[in-house]
This record gives sequence, structure tokens and C-alpha cells, in this order.
Amino acid sequence: MQPLKHLVMEHRLISKAVTVTKTFRDRIDTGGPIRPKQYWLLVDFWSTYADIVHHGKEEQQLFPTLLDYTKSSEFGATIDKLVEEHMYLLGYIGELRRFARPMFTGDRPARERVIQCLDKYLRLIEPHIQLEDEKLFPSVANLLPEKKLNTLAKEFKAMDERTGTKVQSYYSNLVEQLKKEV
Ligand SMILES: [Fe+2]
Ligand SMILES: [Fe+2]
Repeated sequence: MQPLKHLVMEHRLISKAVTVTKTFRDRIDTGGPIRPKQYWLLVDFWSTYADIVHHGKEEQQLFPTLLDYTKSSEFGATIDKLVEEHMYLLGYIGELRRFARPMFTGDRPARERVIQCLDKYLRLIEPHIQLEDEKLFPSVANLLPEKKLNTLAKEFKAMDERTGTKVQSYYSNLVEQLKKEV
């Protein structure tokens, strides 16, 4: 698969998970029932799929390759911003883990912290994806030669296989399952 298509496909799954997470957030806010198992599956999606599988490809492969091909300060600034946002997103996931247990034992401040974290995550992830889809990725296609794009495609496939040969179908099914359950 062409490397940018691969990343855009992952963005589409992440966008589906955003919709599920919004429903989840509202359920927590209105005191609705949330099963701990669903909560942890969602946290696993954001930490494994969004951070390791997806941001891993961007940070370890795409961004360094781009920086090899351009000295543009605008590109550099955009990549710095995107990497910084990945760090913030990962930090929010850490807090979702940290406050899970007290929230499930009825601690109201912990529940508020979880809601705040989900809000921060959701506010950041959508414009982040939009910036990559609309600004960064179209420039990549113009900047990188065909040979380099093919190498990236192979690297992306190898990274998925290192995580697990069925990583894409597993997380796609997970989001569908949560969509039905939440
Ligand atoms: Fe990103
Ligand atoms: Fe991305």
C-alpha cells in the first residue's frame, strides 16, 4: 500500500474511534454505566494503535525521511508541532490509566479528571489529523521520490508486522465492537 494511503487509512480508523470516545465521554459525564473492560479497550486503542502503531510510523519513519529531503523551516516547525502534540496525547492516555481505578470505585474528582482528559484528547486529535491530511501529506507526495515512497511503504508494513500481523484488523474490529456496545 502506498505509504500516505496507509497513514490516511489509519486516520480514518482513529476518526471512528473519536466518535466512539465522544459517546463514551458523555456517558461518563451523565453518570451512565461504563464497563471497566470497555474503558480499558478504548485506552488500549489510543495507546497501542494511535500512539505505537500510527504515531510510531510518523515519528520513526515519515518525519525523519522528510527532514532528510527538505531544509524548509516551515516543515521543521510543523513537524516539531506534530511531535509535541503526540507527546501531549500520550500524556492524556497516562492520566486515563491513572484515574481509572479511583473513578470505578466512585471517586468524583477522578471522574472529573477522566472527563477533562478525554476533552483535551478529543480537542487535540481532530485538528492534528486535519493538519497532517490537508497540509503535511500532500507536500510529502510532492517532495519524496517514488523510490523513497516505496521504501516507506515497506517500512510501514514491517512495523505493523512487528506489532502483530493482524494489528489493523484487530483494532478495526475493536472499534466496531465498541461502537455497538457503547
Ligand atoms: Fe501525527
Ligand atoms: Fe497521523
